[in-house]
Parts: sequence; structure tokens; C-alpha cells
Amino acid sequence: MRILSGIQPTGRFHWGNYFGAIRQYIDLQNGQDSAFYFIANLHALTTIRDRELLARNTFDAAVDLLALGLDPDRATLFVQSDVPEVSELCWILMTTTPMGLLERCHAYKDKKSKGLTADAGLFTYPVLMAADILLYDSNLVPVGEDQKQHVEVCRDIAGSFNNSFGEAFVIPEAYIVKDTAKVPGLDGGKMSKSYGNSVEVFEDLKLQKKKIMSITTDSRPIESPKDPEGDHLFQLYSLFASTEQIQSLEERYKRGGFGYGEIKKELAILAESFFAAARQRREELIKKPEDVKKILNDGAKKASKKAAEVLTRVKKICGVEGR
Ligand code: ADP
Ligand code: TRP
Repeated sequence: MRILSGIQPTGRFHWGNYFGAIRQYIDLQNGQDSAFYFIANLHALTTIRDRELLARNTFDAAVDLLALGLDPDRATLFVQSDVPEVSELCWILMTTTPMGLLERCHAYKDKKSKGLTADAGLFTYPVLMAADILLYDSNLVPVGEDQKQHVEVCRDIAGSFNNSFGEAFVIPEAYIVKDTAKVPGLDGGKMSKSYGNSVEVFEDLKLQKKKIMSITTDSRPIESPKDPEGDHLFQLYSLFASTEQIQSLEERYKRGGFGYGEIKKELAILAESFFAAARQRREELIKKPEDVKKILNDGAKKASKKAAEVLTRVKKICGVEGR
């Protein structure tokens, strides 16, 4: 059973990335051979046009993942471009991918609907993602809700290739944790770095507190009861709190007699202590960049071995290799 997922190094990770994606990777890691995680720097090239920024983000993503609990003894961590076979497989897959399948994909459709011009890289983004998944015979792909469509596209691409040439690929499944499917941002919309409503996992603590205090709330007076249902402050608090703390907050909401500011201060304390150990680990890791690079190199070697095996199999099946 192989579990595989990737995350783009497009900026520092926020709470949405952690609870919606990274935490699942970490919970699922159970062996170097079975868990493959990579930093999708080739995908990030569709949005970042700054050499230093992309290189820095890629390294930061590795450090952050390791600090958050990704364990190189229980998972293989690598950088996408360190396994160039992925680009070759991407081309092979493109030859049997219907245009219509890609035209229906959200990222491309959204950009088009805003009247923006899309690059071929954005249009074919899901094919590279399919190559990422299929290159390692992955069975399970943990992703946030918004990536579910891409895993479906991967299944379609693999299915149509298998139909044309025979059993080349393992068909993967998406794995999505429902209860934390969508982490709200400071304004109540989906937390996203592009909406300016996010709190970074390793944000400076002073700035983090300032952001938490700016979470939007309704204007009910202190004494009136409040509704926890659908309240994004309540949802954010629940990410960090124990079951008892959540229950007790629910009762306080229903009783009333408090201001939202109190809850925000408590949330800041909870969030700080939730990530305190990871913050400490991060401090240690950035002092040893060579260790981080070695983890990535070892990971790439391991991933390359599997990649070469699968790519050879596929090339033989479709007649590119074996004259
Ligand atoms: P962003 O929206 O900030 O650009 P990405 O699209 O890079 O984030 O998302 C990286 C991963 O984190 C994806 O698997 C995505 O599903 C997950 N993710 C991002 N934002 C959230 C959120 N608000 N709630 C849950 N998961 C999220
Ligand atoms: N597109 C994913 C995201 O933006 C990242 C990604 C690239 C990925 N390749 C993947 C995720 C393969 C899972 C499997 O979050």
C-alpha cells in the first residue's frame, strides 16, 4: 500500500494547509516504502517567477514539514524536480488525456472565467499531478477537499491509458478528512494565502496574536447568547482545543455573558502551545541546513528507484521502449 501526496512551495504554510493537508500526511506515515511525500516545485513554477523565492520556499517547506512531524524514518520526503522521470511520464500521459477533461478543471476554469490568459502549464497542471501519483504506483492520496477533482482526473487519465494499452497503472483513491475539510480564515471565508485571511503556522507570535484579535465577529452585545453553529471563531478555536474545552466553549456561547475578545485571547494561547514543540524543532533544523538537504537527497534516491521501475514498465507497455 503506497500513500503519496505533494504540497506546493508557494509560501509559508498556514493553519488551513496544516489541518486540511499536512496533519493527514503525518498521521498516515508508516514506513519509508509506503509513505511518499514531496514538495511540488514544478507545479509552483506555474505561479512563481522568482528564482530565489522558489528555491527558498522549497527549502522552507521541507524544514516546516520536518518540524511539524514528518519523520524521514517513517516516510520518504523529496523534491518533485529531483525525480525527472515525472516530466517524461507527464508527456506520455498527455498523449491520451482528452482536452475536455482539463477544460473542466477548476484552477484553469476560474482563471479563464476571470478573463485572464492561462499558460499551457496551468492547463496541463492536472496531468503533471497525475504523473506524480502514477509514477509511484500510489494507492491512497491524502489531499484537501479542493484537490479531490485532480485525483478524479488522475483516475480518469490512468483508466483511459490502461484501456488503450493494457494494465499500466494502479488506480489511486483520494483520502479526505471530512471534519477539518475547510479551515475558515480570519474573515470567515476559506483560509487561503491568496485571500490575505490566513495565519501562518510559524508566524511571528506577536503578529499571530494581532491577526487572531482581528478575526471578524458579529456585533452581539456581551450579555446576549451567541450561536456557535457556523461561527468561524468557534471553528478556529475547535481546531486547537480538547473535546472538553470545545464543549465548555459551546456552553459559554449559548449562555452569553462574554465578549469575543476573551475567546480570541484564549485562542492565541491555545494555538501558541499547540505548535510550540514544532516551533522548537524548526529552530533546531534551520541551524543544520546540510541535514535537511541530506534528507531530501536520500528521499529523492529512494523515490527515483521506484520511478525508474514504473516508467520502464509504462514505456514497454506503450511501445516507446523495447524495439
Ligand atoms: P492556498 O489556498 O493558501 O493557496 P494551497 O492551495 O497551496 O493553499 O493548498 C495546499 C493544501 O492545503 C491543499 O491540499 C489544500 O487542500 C489544503 N488547504 C488549503 N487551504 C485550506 C483550508 N482553508 N482548509 C483546508 N485545507 C486547505
Ligand atoms: N496540486 C496539489 C496542491 O496544490 C499539490 C500536488 C501536486 C499534489 N502533485 C500532487 C497533491 C500529487 C497530491 C498528489 O495542493
